[in-house]
Amino acid sequence: MKITMIGTGYVGLVSGACFADFGHDVVCVDKDAGKIAAIESGRMPIFEPGLDQLVGNNAAAGRLTFTTDLAAGVKGADAIFIAVGTPSRRGDGHADLSYVYAAAREIVGALDGPAVIVTKSTVPVGTGDEVERIARELRPDLDIQCVSNPEFLREGAAIGDFKRPDRVVVGTTGSERAIAVMSQIYRPLNLNQAPLMFTGRRTAELIKYAANAFLATKITFINEMADLCEAVGAEVQDVSRGIGLDNRIGGKFLHAGPGYGGSCFPKDTLALVKTGQDHDAPIRIVETVVQVNDLRKRAMGRKIVKALGGDARGKTVALLGLTFKPNTDDMRDAPSLAIVQALEDAGATIVAYDPEGMEVAAPMMPSVTMASDAYEAADGADALVLVTEWDIFRALDLKRIAASMAGKALIDLRNIYPLAEAQDAGFTLTRVGGSGS
Ligand code: UDX
Repeated sequence: MKITMIGTGYVGLVSGACFADFGHDVVCVDKDAGKIAAIESGRMPIFEPGLDQLVGNNAAAGRLTFTTDLAAGVKGADAIFIAVGTPSRRGDGHADLSYVYAAAREIVGALDGPAVIVTKSTVPVGTGDEVERIARELRPDLDIQCVSNPEFLREGAAIGDFKRPDRVVVGTTGSERAIAVMSQIYRPLNLNQAPLMFTGRRTAELIKYAANAFLATKITFINEMADLCEAVGAEVQDVSRGIGLDNRIGGKFLHAGPGYGGSCFPKDTLALVKTGQDHDAPIRIVETVVQVNDLRKRAMGRKIVKALGGDARGKTVALLGLTFKPNTDDMRDAPSLAIVQALEDAGATIVAYDPEGMEVAAPMMPSVTMASDAYEAADGADALVLVTEWDIFRALDLKRIAASMAGKALIDLRNIYPLAEAQDAGFTLTRVGGSGS
């Protein structure tokens, strides 16, 4: 199959490289010439484990090419995927679809024959209808099928998620040609028995939002349960395990922490809330999830101040991990941003270390001093806060760290360290949802 991928962001670049690895002929298109040149010379615009090698191998094999010329990239393609950004629109939280529609117009304008246009960006219900309307309006002479194919990959595990998905969802309006093309594109996945689920286009669009909102709800549920555990003297990790072993609930996404962040959950929950309100079918549970999660990030700042004895003025706080999760350099809606703000408002000085995120984070938190490793960050600090659970923070020499610090407060927002180990090193441990004993 000849595939064109419009947009070389997270989803576009990973999907394009993986499709090429399946043996398809893939052209990735991006307007940003600097980005295309960087990728061609082996520098990836994002940090994602294994991506540079996957791109390099497939480019060398001639299956993966890059261009800024959309019209040339689109010519002769069996399917053209739209994987451009859909940020939250300033002010009202709706998804901003201007990039999607602009891409659709350009694609349709450049087509020289029948084609399948596939929306991979996360887009609100009805976006496929509008893409189809644009296609009919600009090229009534051509058979253009518009399909929805949401992507469920996670940052940091993107290649594995793409190649071994739990399912692939394809929404069509019933066109046999579209179904045949999409089946052919995903045929290599049959080896892994991933169900290829065909459904209506609007349904497919909604599935993506429903999945993300459900996962965000699961996280928020356990986070509030963690607060209750703290209040009544229970252990949230055991509650997670105790409920997660019930197959109907499942143990995943039940880790209590500082609140969800990232490029998807905050944006997609908000967009779903707006869609519900617009259609007079409010999703009240998700409205609450959005509010609770926003409040939680700042509340983590207060938790740290409390661990400092209630007064952070003149104190130094060391943060380990800044990105919203490990194995990414993504800082979008990271809890660390709200935590830094809250601590600075409380008068603390902040030192931080993150294995991959400091370059992106530094301009977002200009008064924070960036250290070169966890030990340097902790040196002389009054409190040490584990914000993001990078592997490198899982086996720290706590005794060495405690000896170098001015204070002995360890605030573990990811529940990595058991109470005994922290106490043994001389720390006073604060965890999320219990004492860790
Ligand atoms: C998410 C979805 O998982 C993915 O299917 C979708 O395509 C994009 O959004 P991603 O944002 O990359 O992926 O990260 P994910 O691993 O899902 O974590 C999201 C946030 O939830 C992070 O801030 C993480 O720390 C938090 N989280 C996750 C928890 O706090 N507890 C958990 O149990 C799981």
